[in-house]
Amino acid sequence: MGIGLTYFKRYRMEIDLVGRDLSLAKAPEGYQFIAWEPSLVDAHAKVKYLSFRDEIDSHVFPCFTEFAGCQRLMHEIAHKPGFLPEATWLAVYTGSHRWEYCGTIQGIRDRVGMGSVQNLGILRHHRGRRLGTALLFRALEGFREAGLSRVHLEVTADNRGAIRLYRRLGFAAVKTVFKAAEVAYS
Ligand SMILES: CC(C)(COP(=O)(O)OP(=O)(O)OC[C@H]1O[C@@H](n2cnc3c(N)ncnc32)[C@H](O)[C@@H]1OP(=O)(O)O)[C@@H](O)C(=O)NCCC(=O)NCCS
Repeated sequence: MGIGLTYFKRYRMEIDLVGRDLSLAKAPEGYQFIAWEPSLVDAHAKVKYLSFRDEIDSHVFPCFTEFAGCQRLMHEIAHKPGFLPEATWLAVYTGSHRWEYCGTIQGIRDRVGMGSVQNLGILRHHRGRRLGTALLFRALEGFREAGLSRVHLEVTADNRGAIRLYRRLGFAAVKTVFKAAEVAYS
């Protein structure tokens, strides 16, 4: 058993918010969006952990494999100088079944004044209901409210469903980047 380095191919994707219709930002029926407040840090971390732990990105970012890792990451994001509460939202299911937090997205303003989506995650059993679309658009509205006109995110090249979603919503790939990650081998 050893540890080696591997490189994951990722795309930087960008969207221009000027004149863009963001009306898809409305939560689907049975869901509500909750604005950021510091007491929600663990709720965001829990949804992040449950959304990402079995996905390709947990190989790229090992912190996704543990709740404690997601807690650390959320604290880090919330304390960044460019953290944008307006672009940070939690989705909650309020329909006829059990109430639960089920989606998270966080936003920051980067050093050059562009918006940056940190992580968009939806619990598996709530996917495919346009919740991810709506939460992303709610965050885009927040970036615009904060005066930003362009937003980027990074997505792992193997995450084809997410890439298709981002393209459909108006994001375009502008650059390929490689992220180094440690992997165990036998
Ligand atoms: C990507 C993700 C946020 C989409 O959330 P969602 O609520 O299912 O999104 P919507 O219902 O608005 O849109 C569905 C679209 O998402 C895409 N998608 C990506 N992964 C998917 C999955 N596992 N299941 C269903 N749809 C998925 C598909 O393109 C689908 O579009 P289609 O109708 O063309 O198949 C969600 O699948 C997720 O949390 N994935 C794991 C975490 C992750 O990889 N996040 C993105 C990091 S960049």
